[in-house]
Amino acid sequence: MLAKIVSKLPAPIHRLLRRLFQEDRKVRQLYETTDYLSAYRAHTDMRVDDDRDAAIGGMWDQIGELQFNFMVANGLKRDSSLLDFGCGTLRGGLWYIRYLDPGNYTGIDISEKVLAAARGRVAENGLNDKHPNIILNEDPDSVFRCVAGHQYDFIIAQSVLTHLPADFVENIFIELRDVLKPGGCFFFTYWRGKKYDRVGVKDFYYPFDTLADMARKHGFSLEDYESRYDHPRGQSMALAKWEGAAVAD
Ligand SMILES: C[S@@+](CC[C@H](N)C(=O)[O-])C[C@H]1O[C@@H](n2cnc3c(N)ncnc32)[C@H](O)[C@@H]1O
Repeated sequence: MLAKIVSKLPAPIHRLLRRLFQEDRKVRQLYETTDYLSAYRAHTDMRVDDDRDAAIGGMWDQIGELQFNFMVANGLKRDSSLLDFGCGTLRGGLWYIRYLDPGNYTGIDISEKVLAAARGRVAENGLNDKHPNIILNEDPDSVFRCVAGHQYDFIIAQSVLTHLPADFVENIFIELRDVLKPGGCFFFTYWRGKKYDRVGVKDFYYPFDTLADMARKHGFSLEDYESRYDHPRGQSMALAKWEGAAVAD
């Protein structure tokens, strides 16, 4: 019945629907047959080929400016050092690079294609003399080893934990101590849900308390910034700060 209706649609719409369904099946197969991070990287790469702005979520100007204004309102200064964790094609990154003193911006990502687009953006915007550090994380077992030996005043992860399952999120808190300066702030957005849940191929929902427990276990306190961040798609914001000592299991 559905096939009959579809076959009667005008050719361009028919072609578009077929392409969307084929792509959707290809993406689902990718996540079913590959480890999560490799699938997510390959999926992002596919999307960058299509459109480098849409690949990392779109709403380019709005979410770039939103996160930048939030960080400045919450203490980011020109001479602060910032790690943009999961920097993508620099939706927030361009704002940070323009603002920060040269060399004080570091962006890391797992996708080489995303980073190639990011480097292109830096050049197109005349920002090479700001000397941003744009670094590929190639290590499937570590979140922050790619910046080993460096510590930052601020770390921001906008729309990153939204796409990471619980074991990856726990790894972030395990390694965070090495890359956050004493007194430093790790701000991150996440999808807030009543229970831990995976929706579709790459959206993960967390109760605030689940994240707070994970953070506490590894020595961090978590503060709820939901009411202080007006994300247009409803992502929540939280702040993790080092509290002194990890809790023994
Ligand atoms: C939705 S995009 C957001 C990009 C950017 N933060 C922004 O606001 O535009 C998420 C990015 O995080 C990257 N990412 C996901 N997991 C990562 C990890 N473990 N380490 C580094 N980057 C990661 C993805 O490759 C993707 O480019």
